[in-house]
Amino acid sequence: MRVLFLNGPNLNLLGTREPEVYGRTTLADIEVKVREKAAQLKVVVDFRQSNQEGELVSWIQEAKGKFEVIVINAAAYTHTSVALRDAISAVGVPTIEIHLSNIHAREEFRHKSLIAPVCKGQISGFGEKSYILALEASVYVNDLNK
Ligand code: DQA
Repeated sequence: MRVLFLNGPNLNLLGTREPEVYGRTTLADIEVKVREKAAQLKVVVDFRQSNQEGELVSWIQEAKGKFEVIVINAAAYTHTSVALRDAISAVGVPTIEIHLSNIHAREEFRHKSLIAPVCKGQISGFGEKSYILALEASVYVNDLNK
């Protein structure tokens, strides 16, 4: 089973970016932890980050037939991107939305996720653990689809 992890804008700054909100773990550290867990679960992982909306759209489109599940932290694009939502909907690869912070406990503009309605579910507020929980959820979603 193959899972594509996509990370949106500014997540390359994790570790130094607002550590009181996002913690001190870097994205590279999170990737290491995801890969450790993936090895235990016998899941093949691809882990990517982009600050560009169009690149994320292209990666979603290319995932069809190559990955069973997409896990996406769309970061700020969560709240703005019709293009990401349409890509997830068009491609039909089961997708899990994740966030480090609890977007519902923050500013009002973060309460709305444009991608949530086209995702299988949302994991929000568990810091770096959101990524591990999403990996476990990916296995569950894939088993349901068998
Ligand atoms: C985030 C939450 C978003 O609102 C924000 O724009 C981010 C990170 C999170 O992981 O908590 O960049 O997706």
